[in-house]
Amino acid sequence: MLPCMASWIYRFLLFCFCASHALAADTLYQGDDSLSSPNTLVSKNGLFTLGFTGLGSAESNASYLGIWYNNDTSHPFWLANRGKPIADNSGVLAIDGSGNMKLTYSGGDPVEFYSSQSSTTNITAILEDSGNFVLKDENSGSQQVLWQSFDSPTDTFLPGMKLGINHRTGQNWSLLSWLSDLVPTPAGAFTFEWDTNGKKLVIKRRGVFYWTSGPLRSNTSFENFYLNSGKEVDFSFINDSNADEDYFMFKVSANEYASRDQRNFSMWQLRSDGSIVDLTTSQAFGGPICKGNNADAGCERWSGPTCRSNWNSFELRSGYFFETVPRKVDYNSSLSTSDCKDICWKNCTCVGVTPIANNANNTGCVFWYGSFTQGLTGNNIQHYIIVDQGSSGKMNWIWIILASVGVVSLTGLAGLLLYRRRRRHGEKYLFELLTMDATNDTLELENDGNKGHNLKVFSAATIMAATNSFSAENKLGQGGFGPVYKGTLPDGREIAVKRLSKSSGQGLVEFKNELILIAKLQHMNLVRLVGCCIQGEEKMLVYEYMPNKSLDSFIFDE
Ligand SMILES: *[C@@H]1O[C@H](CO)[C@@H](O)[C@H](O)[C@H]1NC(C)=O
Ligand SMILES: *[C@@H]1O[C@H](CO)[C@@H](O)[C@H](O)[C@H]1NC(C)=O
Ligand SMILES: *[C@@H]1O[C@H](CO)[C@@H](O)[C@H](O)[C@H]1NC(C)=O
Ligand SMILES: *[C@@H]1O[C@H](CO)[C@@H](O)[C@H](O)[C@H]1NC(C)=O
Ligand SMILES: *[C@@H]1O[C@H](CO)[C@@H](O)[C@H](O)[C@H]1NC(C)=O
Ligand SMILES: *[C@@H]1O[C@H](CO)[C@@H](O)[C@H](O)[C@H]1NC(C)=O
Ligand SMILES: *[C@@H]1O[C@H](CO)[C@@H](O)[C@H](O)[C@H]1NC(C)=O
Ligand SMILES: *[C@@H]1O[C@H](CO)[C@@H](O)[C@H](O)[C@H]1NC(C)=O
Ligand SMILES: *[C@@H]1O[C@H](CO)[C@@H](O)[C@H](O)[C@H]1NC(C)=O
Ligand SMILES: *[C@@H]1O[C@H](CO)[C@@H](O)[C@H](O)[C@H]1NC(C)=O
Repeated sequence: MLPCMASWIYRFLLFCFCASHALAADTLYQGDDSLSSPNTLVSKNGLFTLGFTGLGSAESNASYLGIWYNNDTSHPFWLANRGKPIADNSGVLAIDGSGNMKLTYSGGDPVEFYSSQSSTTNITAILEDSGNFVLKDENSGSQQVLWQSFDSPTDTFLPGMKLGINHRTGQNWSLLSWLSDLVPTPAGAFTFEWDTNGKKLVIKRRGVFYWTSGPLRSNTSFENFYLNSGKEVDFSFINDSNADEDYFMFKVSANEYASRDQRNFSMWQLRSDGSIVDLTTSQAFGGPICKGNNADAGCERWSGPTCRSNWNSFELRSGYFFETVPRKVDYNSSLSTSDCKDICWKNCTCVGVTPIANNANNTGCVFWYGSFTQGLTGNNIQHYIIVDQGSSGKMNWIWIILASVGVVSLTGLAGLLLYRRRRRHGEKYLFELLTMDATNDTLELENDGNKGHNLKVFSAATIMAATNSFSAENKLGQGGFGPVYKGTLPDGREIAVKRLSKSSGQGLVEFKNELILIAKLQHMNLVRLVGCCIQGEEKMLVYEYMPNKSLDSFIFDE
């Protein structure tokens, strides 16, 4: 009995020792303490980790000192040495005896975070529960903050971080995107900033306005930027302007819909394609929807030569080029895909670009000159093509008459060919019809408008307005694929909106297949599908609302 008890006490003590040891691992102490691979610091809440990572790349031994969330080492939200990868695993982070915190490694200059002005003896660096890595002087009564990672952000914005300026210290907080999704160098094309004059968020491409949030409407939304779409977390925006500082920040709180493991945390990542993405709701703003001379959803028109009309924009397409000038392959490793698009946009001979996707970096591109014909190519490579969305609107009468004559004489022949083709391809034809103007670029579907098939594509703003931001009062019920809400369009029509939950596992292809399936069922005695809405990863189906129909008919769970 006694030895058994002793063993139990021993185990208990061992557990306590280990547990307290693990809890202590959020702090780096001055002096002999240091951090090197594979050791890490973990915040007390277990959510954030500071350590060395190869960004998920197996081929390269290069390492970066970073802080990541939820074990995602491939894209840390903060990087200490984004422009200076360490060639091996020789990196060491330490606070030396005089109080300087630096990262040293073999074969390169140290990265210095803080150099002490006076010799201090009790300095610690703590990875806090907010994800902030803070260097403090423990001797000073107020635990004075000497340096913090939140003051030198990379490409990700966390609750509690600031964007804007401190007039007193000259500190200017902004984000800078990675160059590509694989290369974190500070040579990225995009910045995310707080415009202190206009009191709005802006994305700039190489210093030029690319997207703006529009003015702040309330503590939860800007004109073109809102994140409170009925998800499990609520966001609130803070805008402060005083003698010292002019800044924006945001807070997250879990609401009553949050599941047990849901955290009151989210972060906004500025991607290398110029989008700002909230990682909890996956909502994206800017980025590929700003594709030329469109000025919707906060996009700024691109500056360029007069040959680029107001209707020109880049679209992802498969097809063939007729080259009048040989293509130019540019492997320049400083060119992001968005830089390539900008270069092409500014040269009137250029009709499109193809990113070079399979090199180590996802940088560089192919420029095409001549003309482009849409079609399905064997390997289905997608190109960014400059298309003219408004050519029909600009046609004059003579052309319309000439075209009509041509159309009438060609219709017979084409009709015959098409009929045979349709017969052969069956349902695939409808699929092609849908993919043709949607391709991979779901963002093309952002704006309200009829795209040829009889399904309407609604903007997220329209759906938000119609359903009162997916308010609880508008909720009709819950299907296996997601909740269904009632809404009213500006023209008074009543609709039912089915929000496909992300956990339904529906990708874009499945979504399109469902659309096709439902479109095919239209003639049957079912609720009519009016259209859809795609916002980032969120997909919604819009049905005609019929009060007498049972809820089941809106849900289509089979
Ligand atoms: C990475 O390190 C391993 C072991 O040290 C070595 O064998 C390999 O050649 C290195 N790879 C590169 C790309 O340097
Ligand atoms: C991270 O990984 C460790 C070890 O695999 C695990 O114990 C921990 O729960 C993970 N943390 C999160 C937040 O997923
Ligand atoms: C450092 O400061 C902490 C908090 O003020 C104090 O508890 C600790 O004793 C100090 N350590 C040394 C070596 O001065
Ligand atoms: C702050 O930095 C950003 C990015 O470099 C720059 O565009 C902006 O003009 C700066 N703001 C001020 C007030 O210096
Ligand atoms: C946001 O504004 C609303 C109404 O103006 C107010 O009731 C609410 O307390 C505010 N929330 C925060 C976090 O400031
Ligand atoms: C933003 O801050 C300024 C200055 O503090 C204030 O005048 C303005 O009303 C704020 N705007 C919003 C939408 O809260
Ligand atoms: C999250 O909630 C916990 C307790 O509910 C609180 O202590 C913590 O500060 C919150 N974190 C953030 C980032 O709001
Ligand atoms: C690569 O592109 C960058 C950015 O456009 C440019 O500054 C640089 O001169 C280019 N390098 C070469 C070798 O063309
Ligand atoms: C990848 O980028 C690094 C710099 O970040 C550069 O040294 C290297 O040449 C690039 N590789 C390719 C294949 O472009
Ligand atoms: C456009 O690109 C073509 C082909 O590379 C080149 O010959 C021409 O000089 C470029 N035009 C301008 C204005 O840069």
